[in-house]
Amino acid sequence: MFSFRQAALAALLTIDNVFLAQASTLPAAQLVDMGGGVVGGLHRPVNTGNAKAGLAVYVMHAEQDYLSFYACTELAARGYTVFCANNAASKSGYMSDLDFEEMLENAALGVSYLRNQTDVNQVVLLGHSGGGAMMSAYQNIAENGLSACNCPEKIYPCSDALANLPPADGVVLMDANLGISSMFMLSLNPAIEDETTGMKINSSLNLFSPANGWTANGANYTDAFIREFQHKVATRMNGLVAHAEQRLAVIEAGNGTYADDEPLTIPDSMYTGNNNKLFTQDVRLFSHTQHAWPLLHKNGSASTQIVRSVRVPSGVTSLASSYLQGAVKTTIRRFLGIFALRVDASTFSYNASSLSGIQWNSSHMVPIAAVQGIKVPLLTMGMTGHYEYLNAEKVYLASGSNDTSIAFVEGANHDTSTCTECETYPGEYGNTTKTAFDFVAGWLGKEGRFV
Ligand SMILES: *[C@@H]1O[C@H](CO)[C@@H](O)[C@H](O)[C@H]1NC(C)=O
Ligand SMILES: *[C@@H]1O[C@H](CO)[C@@H](O)[C@H](O)[C@H]1NC(C)=O
Ligand SMILES: *[C@@H]1O[C@H](CO)[C@@H](O)[C@H](O)[C@H]1NC(C)=O
Ligand SMILES: *[C@@H]1O[C@H](CO)[C@@H](O)[C@H](O)[C@H]1NC(C)=O
Ligand SMILES: *[C@@H]1O[C@H](CO)[C@@H](O)[C@H](O)[C@H]1NC(C)=O
Ligand SMILES: *[C@@H]1O[C@H](CO)[C@@H](O)[C@H](O)[C@H]1NC(C)=O
Ligand SMILES: *[C@@H]1O[C@H](CO)[C@@H](O)[C@H](O)[C@H]1NC(C)=O
Ligand SMILES: *[C@@H]1O[C@H](CO)[C@@H](O)[C@H](O)[C@H]1NC(C)=O
Ligand SMILES: *[C@@H]1O[C@H](CO)[C@@H](O)[C@H](O)[C@H]1NC(C)=O
Repeated sequence: MFSFRQAALAALLTIDNVFLAQASTLPAAQLVDMGGGVVGGLHRPVNTGNAKAGLAVYVMHAEQDYLSFYACTELAARGYTVFCANNAASKSGYMSDLDFEEMLENAALGVSYLRNQTDVNQVVLLGHSGGGAMMSAYQNIAENGLSACNCPEKIYPCSDALANLPPADGVVLMDANLGISSMFMLSLNPAIEDETTGMKINSSLNLFSPANGWTANGANYTDAFIREFQHKVATRMNGLVAHAEQRLAVIEAGNGTYADDEPLTIPDSMYTGNNNKLFTQDVRLFSHTQHAWPLLHKNGSASTQIVRSVRVPSGVTSLASSYLQGAVKTTIRRFLGIFALRVDASTFSYNASSLSGIQWNSSHMVPIAAVQGIKVPLLTMGMTGHYEYLNAEKVYLASGSNDTSIAFVEGANHDTSTCTECETYPGEYGNTTKTAFDFVAGWLGKEGRFV
């Protein structure tokens, strides 16, 4: 992989000499052990004397390994200092291995570390996907204190451990998802008939049934199926939350199966992309923005328009019967802190451009709710080769910052690489990683914003 990247860089030499002179000679990342299982790589730009080098971009995901995410080298190559760190959960490979307070405390270690560096003047959080859910929650609580997470709206209010999180100076959200809890809910299989097994599927709610509109190349589900499926997703979610709240009351009364917490296994609810449901198969859902926004093209120009997703269908295999891949294995308390979300089963729905019936502020790591409390400069970006792109619009509209920017990258996959399957001819979308990070770098470097 490394040699492939080097070869790609060499191929670009003729196109962008100035840029490559930097990129090909980036110093090796410096490994930093922050204790508690939190490890990061500090990427320095070539020119450390430049003002941009004093701006540190801090990248972390909620659970996955982001030590070598594109931003680490792409933004360092564009002159910034970048700190890419993994929290303690990313080591285990076991999703939801931390509770949400541990995640945010882990995130705080990186901000403190960067604030402690004499050559770092500003710290900007960069959250991608679930990292965007985590980083937006982090900044909201850091700016507003405990009231942002122990207010009565929250299903599972935070403890005093989250007082005094050090805030950052800015936030970049790249394809931030709708929230860890929201993506969990949007991955629930309502066809599960019995919460103790992934083996019993109700055929009238089966996503993979041709009778409901499914084909191996994607789906056009019937309107009746979509309505019933969504209704039953909300019903299942409410049942899970009620169960967890009831078990918490039992645990707190000293009558649980353990004194501190209890295990919870939830069949076919894993919230990674390969197990998101309905909109992955039926690309008419989450297919266009409500309003016109800047769409970045491969030549760097932007047009302002309703932004359409160019994605292709995915999620062709059911993981319902798999304990390892399909089930979320967590605990009652972790479930309530990370996955629980209030939803109104009578109004919950989503369509081509929006969602309704969700009380976003009932949960902790939900960007639409968290960004309302963010006042520092905020950039939200969406990748049109993926469905999570649509949230960039919702985040922009909800942002509390008076310096909020938005842009979409035409034809980019979720991770910013080019969605070649989405192209109608090879090269249609160009190098979307370059398009994306050229824009981020320009936003960071805009005079008067940070440097
Ligand atoms: C900050 O620097 C001081 C002095 O070098 C050190 O004692 C402290 O542990 C550092 N804190 C962090 C969070 O790196
Ligand atoms: C299967 O789903 C349909 C549609 O929601 C529902 O009417 C029916 O009662 C379900 N059957 C079982 C056994 O849960
Ligand atoms: C869904 O319907 C549209 C419009 O008729 C069609 O273009 C598309 O191929 C269909 N998709 C599948 C997977 O059948
Ligand atoms: C706890 O268990 C005891 C003994 O069975 C019972 O009397 C009590 O009502 C239980 N409390 C709760 C809250 O379940
Ligand atoms: C850049 O690409 C857009 C979209 O394909 C096109 O409309 C525009 O003319 C191009 N601009 C230049 C300067 O090539
Ligand atoms: C989608 O649903 C919203 C309500 O959430 C509604 O206002 C909007 O008109 C619907 N859009 C489409 C394209 O059906
Ligand atoms: C939380 O969201 C609900 C609507 O879902 C709203 O009625 C309530 O005012 C919100 N609370 C805060 C503190 O914004
Ligand atoms: C924007 O918000 C920041 C932080 O709240 C504040 O310092 C600044 O004065 C505001 N700028 C404008 C133009 O309102
Ligand atoms: C895309 O451009 C970036 C520079 O921004 C470079 O690092 C990367 O290797 C390029 N990717 C491909 C597939 O050429």
